Amino acid sequence: MRIVSDPKQMQSLARRWRAAGDTIALVPTMGALHRGHESLLTTARQRATRVVASIYVNPTQFAPHEDLAKYPRDLKADAKICRRANIDVLFHPANLYTADHSTWVEESSLSQDLCGRTRPGHFRGVTTVVLILLNIVQPDLAFFGQKDAQQVAVITRMVRDLYVMTKIISLPTVRDEDGLAFSSRNRFLTVAQRTNAQVLPQLLHLAVAQKNPVLWFQRELKRRPGLQLDYVKKFNGHLCAAVWVGTTRLIDNVPCPA
Ligand code: PAF
Repeated sequence: MRIVSDPKQMQSLARRWRAAGDTIALVPTMGALHRGHESLLTTARQRATRVVASIYVNPTQFAPHEDLAKYPRDLKADAKICRRANIDVLFHPANLYTADHSTWVEESSLSQDLCGRTRPGHFRGVTTVVLILLNIVQPDLAFFGQKDAQQVAVITRMVRDLYVMTKIISLPTVRDEDGLAFSSRNRFLTVAQRTNAQVLPQLLHLAVAQKNPVLWFQRELKRRPGLQLDYVKKFNGHLCAAVWVGTTRLIDNVPCPA
């Protein structure tokens, strides 16, 4: 596995692969890789002849008061996971934005509600950096986790609207033994918070069997200690929720018939 940090070098390598007839897969990440990412890497490995994982903590998707500085960074551990998945390149740029960067990609419908309401500007940062990554790596396939259901929907819409030649593939959420979805932010939870957080997937699963899943979830969550509701909403065939566990915000979703 090669580690490439220069965007131009990554772009010419991808161009050479493409000219040689390779199928290229990209797994975009912000690092702090976990078993959810591993499942994306492993599937990408099976579906393409060249696999690139990008690790870039994208500053433009964090609001000034958000956790950019404390976002976990551990390149050594991440590289080990990437090697285990037998990928070709770990793309780890120091910066993806030129000094006078002034071009943004904004999806203006699906990105407005849920996380978009709580985190204004977040999806503009996501779509911009994802398009930059797609332009550098020019992948046939790009893999994302279904845990970020709204992100998947927004990126899929961007790719459709802008005629980007990459197929967006979302893979099922990977859960730990206690049911909690793997997330880079889980490492911020104390043992007690982790126990409280387990209620999130449990309630989501129970809620979808109720007559009014949203109301039921709201009512039940209020009764649980240590959890504060950000939102619960039906979105794109899923019941999606974001909750605060102390200062950590977790999101999750389960399929939910309309
Ligand atoms: O899901 C993430 O880790 C990020 O939002 C992404 C897609 C890598 C863009 O920075």
